[in-house]
Amino acid sequence: ATTLGAAAAQSGRYFGTAIAASRLNDSTYSTIAAREFNMITAENEMKPDATEPNQNQFNFSAGDQIYNWATQRGLKVRGHTLAWHAQQPGWMQNMGGSTLRNAMINHINGVMAHYKGKLAAWDVVNEAFNEDGSRRNSNLQGTGNDWIEVAFRTARAADPSVKLCYNDYNIENWSYGKTQGVYRMIQDFKSRGVPIDCVGLQTHFTGGSSLPSNFQTTLSSFAALGVDVALTEVDVTNSSTSQYQGLTQACLNVPRCIGITVWGVRDSDSWRSNESPLLFDGGGNKKAAYTSVLNALNAA
Ligand code: G3I
Repeated sequence: ATTLGAAAAQSGRYFGTAIAASRLNDSTYSTIAAREFNMITAENEMKPDATEPNQNQFNFSAGDQIYNWATQRGLKVRGHTLAWHAQQPGWMQNMGGSTLRNAMINHINGVMAHYKGKLAAWDVVNEAFNEDGSRRNSNLQGTGNDWIEVAFRTARAADPSVKLCYNDYNIENWSYGKTQGVYRMIQDFKSRGVPIDCVGLQTHFTGGSSLPSNFQTTLSSFAALGVDVALTEVDVTNSSTSQYQGLTQACLNVPRCIGITVWGVRDSDSWRSNESPLLFDGGGNKKAAYTSVLNALNAA
């Protein structure tokens, strides 16, 4: 296959990218995105500050722009994200206690009702752990340790058809405290019947250092708990071809690793734009890392 999406599809997987609504009328950008990828994540447009700018007044204009662009081209969409300590609307940031808990539940219900039956997955909760594996201190955490499971139970009831994911960064190395903290939560959720379908490993890597040798162990260990895994926000500074190749291969080696999403199209589109982290250069040309990923997908 000659595109990332088609190559991933050969093994039943997807290959996605994050999309910014503000760039969709850049034809170089949208042409590459529609050609290469078959899963789309809104980079910012489905986050709480975008979708509920005023309390109980939902705004889906930018999110729908991305959703419609994608689905008109036959691409699927992952929702990102419903409950997070960052990118909360101003009205939510200083809330606490039952007021915030109820606002979170209302937010999940409001956004999920709008996209009901339309999305492949939702990142229900994003980045809730510290590096040592304890829970991150936030206004949401302050509402009680059960806020994450309440978010997932609310989400399942709001749309039983969509896969529900927990998403985080720095959970790729199996021997890292944060990885173990998230693992124990998923294990606990599965043992108590809290609804969860998938774990998203953001996979923001630093080029030059080697891929965590146990990355595949992490993927297979999560999968063994009975959840799908996905690489949800991949970028590698300096686009290290060996790391791109290695992370792709690790996913391909784990049957429940269902897909890979890179966090942007061209280097110039990235939140780390000065670190050359993506598969296309600023001119939209395929980089060596692109070829290493495509070849790995085609060899699977
Ligand atoms: O849209 C406004 C614009 O109106 C304003 O003039 C400008 C001035 O700062 O800001 C613009 O908003 C920015 C937005 O991106 C859109 O470009 C925000 O400041 C900026 O903070 C925001 O950054 C995003 C970041 O999440 C915020 O947390 C990045 O684009 C986005 O790539 C990044 O994505 C996150 C994932 O959601 C979660 N995992 C980590 C990942 C990378 O940080």
